[in-house]
Amino acid sequence: MAEIFEHMRDGEQRIGARQPVPSHAATNIARKVLQDGFEGRLPLSTKPCLGIVLGTGMGLLVNHLDEKRTVDFSELGWLPSATAIGHAGRLVWGHVENQPVVMLQGRVHAYEGQPVEMLYRGIELFAALGIEQVLLTNASGGLTSDLAVGEIVVLNDHIDFVRNTLAVEYLKTDGSHVYDELLSIGAVRAAQVAGHRCRRGVYAYCLGPNYETRAEYRMLKMLGADVVGMSTVPEVTVARSFGMRVVAASVVTNLADSIDCEDRQPIHGEDVCQTAASATNGVWTIVRKLLGEL
Ligand code: HPA
Repeated sequence: MAEIFEHMRDGEQRIGARQPVPSHAATNIARKVLQDGFEGRLPLSTKPCLGIVLGTGMGLLVNHLDEKRTVDFSELGWLPSATAIGHAGRLVWGHVENQPVVMLQGRVHAYEGQPVEMLYRGIELFAALGIEQVLLTNASGGLTSDLAVGEIVVLNDHIDFVRNTLAVEYLKTDGSHVYDELLSIGAVRAAQVAGHRCRRGVYAYCLGPNYETRAEYRMLKMLGADVVGMSTVPEVTVARSFGMRVVAASVVTNLADSIDCEDRQPIHGEDVCQTAASATNGVWTIVRKLLGEL
């Protein structure tokens, strides 16, 4: 066990040879990492009702949890430390109206140069905890002309321009029913009723870390994407392979139309983070809906 732990701390998945660990094995290891390291500190015998990945600017949502327990990714040794702006890198366990909820405050992205399996370790951890329903959040650039900054787009599909080579078990995921219709429709309605701009849309997954050029924004729009971002799709794919019900909420932080002009202003990561944070109330409404509180 100590040996496995050491490998995980390295941020490397080396158990014997450098083979990718099959999904069930990875989940078993994640479970063991939790049990051996955190029994007593985390209520591991309780199955959380919902797992949430908090993307750029969404980190403050942890403040809604009661009876919080927190473990840094570095201490956990299963998830690599996040380096992107606005990604704290913490596992946060707590309650919403007495319902257990687990949040990952931050994630790693493909552009951070981590091995590909690090992009979905969080979902393997959720699987180890028996979580059946996930909410994935992110910040995105808005492509469709009538989107507004701060609007939430609940994904109904995606276009994967990165096509990370995931472990083979995860590639069997059926691409036709990825995002949970019922939960997603409920999420949009709840956010709208609470007064937030919210709609369904298609997410283009690009590698980054640079934001797109004007021509790229135009191309993505022509190809049928509504928003563009640099995360979430590997997590979605792996979550579906575990049979989890997936809802993904993307907060629009900048608009392609306003960029596609001669006096284009540069996009700054700090602004993206702040703008995303301004939509946390809307995302929180979605969380409460998924928990059956609304
Ligand atoms: N492109 C890619 N990712 C993003 C953007 C964008 O314009 N805005 C926020 N995340």
